[in-house]
Amino acid sequence: MENPDLSLYKYKGYYFGRLELRIGLLENLEDFEIREDDVFVITYPKSGTVWFQQILSLIYFEEHRKRAGSLDTNDQVPFLEYSIKHEDIVKRPSPRLFATHLPYYLFPSGMKNKKPKIIYVYRNPKDVVCSYYYFFKNVKLQVTGSFEKFFEQFLEGKVVGSLWFDHIKGWYEHKSLCNIQFMMYEEMKKDLRGSIVKVCKFLGKELSDEDMDAVVTQAMFDNMKSDPRANYDSLMELDGIPRNGHFLRKGTIGDWKNHMTVEQNERFDKIFQREMKDFPLKFIWDMN
Ligand code: A3P
Repeated sequence: MENPDLSLYKYKGYYFGRLELRIGLLENLEDFEIREDDVFVITYPKSGTVWFQQILSLIYFEEHRKRAGSLDTNDQVPFLEYSIKHEDIVKRPSPRLFATHLPYYLFPSGMKNKKPKIIYVYRNPKDVVCSYYYFFKNVKLQVTGSFEKFFEQFLEGKVVGSLWFDHIKGWYEHKSLCNIQFMMYEEMKKDLRGSIVKVCKFLGKELSDEDMDAVVTQAMFDNMKSDPRANYDSLMELDGIPRNGHFLRKGTIGDWKNHMTVEQNERFDKIFQREMKDFPLKFIWDMN
């Protein structure tokens, strides 16, 4: 934690993770050709990215639904800016499915004409900061300091994804220029099937009841956690260093209550109110 910035790569005012970053792509994002049938799941880190990689993979690939294929969610829905499995993202057959943490202002401008489908997933930032802390501590093995220190770093935006507030506002304020569906993590926890039905409608995908059952079941936290195609565990072993945690950690709402002090919570609320006061999206965080 004393030296957390080592893993960050700042590009045009936004923090990326250095590891596996496609720097060449980043520097030529304007040239990245968007297709009309591309689908992007866009998130601020720790908001449900792998969840949606799994959901998209299940919706689009029958073999994934039927557990017949051996490809994992990163093969099916690769990251745009991170070369996790060293896929060729450009030449993928349509429809290409991507995950990304890109802020609106860095996204390839071809999006304005081609109008690919974008799903923006957001989560209570208080839970995001907790999830993020454990991600660095247990998965990246980088945080050696306290939650308190990481909390400050998060509020300064000195993490991959920069400031949470800027990320969501950037996308929301330009929603009329995009074909975008906002999805809330907490709503998905409350009603997974309803959320997936909503997403399918947006994507123009009709699934039979049996297929829908398969998608919902395999998108549940416990099932994903034990599914090697979806739990990211194999990726975490790539550098040969053992981890003492899992990427899919708790998958709950309100874990921040176990971590934030009263003072931290009040400060966070003040900042949230200041930053988000004119923001029309509904936040219904405490739904458990
Ligand atoms: P926790 O650390 O709170 O458990 P991302 O993929 O954007 O990095 O987000 C990771 C967070 O999403 C982790 O949160 C992870 O457990 C949670 N998550 C992943 N799959 C989930 C699922 N099926 N249901 C609920 N939460 C899930």
